[in-house]
Amino acid sequence: MNEITVLDREFSEYITEDEIQSRITAMAEKITEDLKDHDVLFFGILNGSFLFAADIFRQIKLNAQISFIKLASYEGTGSSGKIKELIGWNEDISGKTVVVLEDIVDTGSTLERIIGELTLRKASEVKICTLLFKPDAYTKDIPIDYIGFEIPNSFVVGYGLDYDGYGRNLKSIYKITK
Ligand code: IMP
Repeated sequence: MNEITVLDREFSEYITEDEIQSRITAMAEKITEDLKDHDVLFFGILNGSFLFAADIFRQIKLNAQISFIKLASYEGTGSSGKIKELIGWNEDISGKTVVVLEDIVDTGSTLERIIGELTLRKASEVKICTLLFKPDAYTKDIPIDYIGFEIPNSFVVGYGLDYDGYGRNLKSIYKITK
């Protein structure tokens, strides 16, 4: 088993580069088939999705656009505490089919925040595509249209996903070991 250390934690290889890439090919084929004749705008959610977004977008055979948005956390002054602001919106999405590209859906809070914004901005249709999904951690009802891999509720790193900012450049996905 391929073991690695990122900062102070140990991880073992969980999803190989080949497995990731062949799953992405299959997802891209499905999206291409489902959304042919649509005017599609893909939205990669930074930072984690930058590799996934690049790899899947290259395999989408549609006349499509891609853009990136980022959720920035800052401390609110009100009782709600942390507020997440979306930055990087430049596109007019009204009337468009939007596909959100996420690296991982955990509790679903990020997704909920993004969907709210897309609805406000009047996207005609919103699809969610995530490479990884933790069903045991998910607390929302928002349906997820395209899932690469369902994984248990443990911490993973690699292929865009980080541990304290590190590990994003690993080609495989690694799971934390006890
Ligand atoms: P949410 O709980 O679905 O809103 O996920 C929030 C964010 O937490 C994700 O976009 C990731 O950036 C991060 N995250 C969740 N689980 C993991 C993990 O296992 N490894 C690395 N980042 C994670």
